[in-house]
Amino acid sequence: MRILFVCLGNICRSPTAEGVMARLVRDAGLDGEVVIDSAGTSGWHVGEPPDPRAAAAARRRGTELTGAARQVRPEDFHEFDLILAMDGSNLRDLHAMAPHPQAREKVRLLREFDPASADAGDLDVPDPYYGGPRGFDDVLDLVEAACRGLLDEIRAARA
Ligand code: 4NP
Repeated sequence: MRILFVCLGNICRSPTAEGVMARLVRDAGLDGEVVIDSAGTSGWHVGEPPDPRAAAAARRRGTELTGAARQVRPEDFHEFDLILAMDGSNLRDLHAMAPHPQAREKVRLLREFDPASADAGDLDVPDPYYGGPRGFDDVLDLVEAACRGLLDEIRAARA
């Protein structure tokens, strides 16, 4: 199972999702079976480490954010089984980039995997970049709930 998390800049939300999912997968003993990466729809922050505010908020919860920002590339639609967008804008951009209909079907909103919010109208993980520090904790709450749901689905599919 290969999963790519995608946001706009690849410095706040998608590295957070990557770090949280990596921790959950490790704790579940599934390291070797799930490949996780993240990327941005934009190239604005390519090469930069995760935003220090996102990294600090994650570290307070025992999650290390790693890697350098990169932009989504056409090969991602072949190399990953699931491409998870953080918000509706990322979803639209990814749909527009998908090279063929089958690739388009790999693109979903991350929060579709949170059973508690699956019926909610708004499934966005809000962009914390221009807001206050509370926004980074909100991202962690939303991402953690969705990643737990995602892990449950992966486990169920293996059973
Ligand atoms: P991210 O947050 O998409 O969660 O990484 C953002 C990072 C940078 C910008 C916007 C959102 N920006 O405008 O540079």
